[in-house]
Amino acid sequence: MDIATLHKKICVCQLCDLALSRRVAVPGEGPCPSRIMLIGEAPGKYEDESGRPFVGRAGKLLDEALIKAGIKRNDVFITSVIKCRPPENRKPKRCEIDACNPYLMAQMEILSPNVVCLMGNVAAQTVLGSQGIAALRGKIFSGRFLVTFHPAAVLRNRNLMDAFISDLKMANASALPVLSSAH
Ligand code: URA
Repeated sequence: MDIATLHKKICVCQLCDLALSRRVAVPGEGPCPSRIMLIGEAPGKYEDESGRPFVGRAGKLLDEALIKAGIKRNDVFITSVIKCRPPENRKPKRCEIDACNPYLMAQMEILSPNVVCLMGNVAAQTVLGSQGIAALRGKIFSGRFLVTFHPAAVLRNRNLMDAFISDLKMANASALPVLSSAH
């Protein structure tokens, strides 16, 4: 399946009750294939209105961090674990994450990113099955998974910004094509 076909399926998905409350689904956006894939938690109000990922306050902070890490937003694929906004921005339920997970896995397969940035506990737990990001962040797992903060956590605690930027820099450096040593 190609990414456009997958995203069309996501936009009409009825696999969980969030289909009843969403305005629009937010599949994600970015190049395909993609060197770097960023995964957040769930769309919020502005994402639900626009159909685009990370366009609200957390998105503005992500934009700032990407610039400081030397990464162009248009060069990375940005999505979330679940593609529809939970009412009142509550945490996604297990059944919603499970219903949506095949879409996330299919995106990873189609985009074949060199590095997958798991932003926050929900993304880290969904993809790696790990509890709590504290011990995991700032390291690359299985050659391509990097756990970092969710931009909303950095909004709440600006002291995390430098570490967030440094994680994004590490993702960017790890995603570079390996240069041949031939002269
Ligand atoms: N937070 C997320 O996890 N995803 C978005 O798209 C917006 C905010």
